[in-house]
Amino acid sequence: MEELLQKIELYKQEIEAYKAADAESAEEFRIKYLGTKGLVKSIMGEMKQVPGDRKKEFGQILNDFKQFAENKYELLKTASDGGTTEVKNLKDYSLPGDQLPLGSRHPLSLVRNRIVSIFQRLGFSVAEGPEIEDDWHNFTALNLPENHPARDMQDTFYINQKPDWLLRTHTSSVQVREMEKGQLPIRIICPGRVYRNETISARAHCFFHQVEGLYIDENVSFADLKQTVYFFVQEMFGKEVRVRFRPSYFPFTEPSAEMDISCTICGGDGCQLCKHSGWVEILGCGMVHPQLLENCGINSNKYTGFAFGMGVERITQIKYNVNDLRMYSQNDVRFLKQFTAGI
Ligand code: DAH
Repeated sequence: MEELLQKIELYKQEIEAYKAADAESAEEFRIKYLGTKGLVKSIMGEMKQVPGDRKKEFGQILNDFKQFAENKYELLKTASDGGTTEVKNLKDYSLPGDQLPLGSRHPLSLVRNRIVSIFQRLGFSVAEGPEIEDDWHNFTALNLPENHPARDMQDTFYINQKPDWLLRTHTSSVQVREMEKGQLPIRIICPGRVYRNETISARAHCFFHQVEGLYIDENVSFADLKQTVYFFVQEMFGKEVRVRFRPSYFPFTEPSAEMDISCTICGGDGCQLCKHSGWVEILGCGMVHPQLLENCGINSNKYTGFAFGMGVERITQIKYNVNDLRMYSQNDVRFLKQFTAGI
């Protein structure tokens, strides 16, 4: 055992002193010490002779020895190929640092942030809610009782253990949560991820993002709604954009409307984005249904309000002319890096 230790010490000195002028002699070193018939292997073979109670101690010494030889080999290799760039750079402190590629925000985050900042300038603040919702907040409180046909369009994912729980289908559930708090007036926008049970295609996905808006106070009128969303589209798409409102139906608003903007690609002449109609649909809106206010404990004789909801993917699609929804979640850097510029 002591003999072995001495041997290792000697080899270490030998290794320490080893010099390699070229790649060939570095390779000779490897064969002599680290090869399959090399010294390190052969010393390891002598482990058998070591008495049981010292095996652990000796094993450690052997490992250190092996590591020692490997480190030396790495050094010899580097020195014999003239030094890698890394080692060279270390010596020359005047060289510029390595350029690291900068990441960028996801297009959906860019657009969401832009939407949020436009409404913040109008005095709206951000409210958030859970993505796993209960039936009441996602449907029933919004005038969508069980068996209501409008639930069909918003089929979602349910949680087996808790049949009352589901993945929210829209951010309108956050309006309910805010209204239930009973602090009036309310002027909020609710950005967030929502889910639907849809087959994934270019135009549908099982999850997407929405921004919901809600304003409740005394004397809030449809004119306030129109002006608010008109201001938004002008800030988002430019002053020249035109809008139109079409009557629509949502169980939680009365009257309800859908807002279109003049096509940002063709300016109204007709193209693929607007399906040759000159208009693209961008949001749903309306005056909050009085029943909803009552459902949430707000006096509907005193207060009125408006609400609107839009899809972030939709706004991004119009803003950047992206025509396949799947691109947003494929994480293809060639797609993502096109959105570095601030919007
Ligand atoms: N929640 C609706 C949806 O997901 C969007 C919406 C429409 C929200 C009109 C509203 C609204 O607040 O007033 O389809």
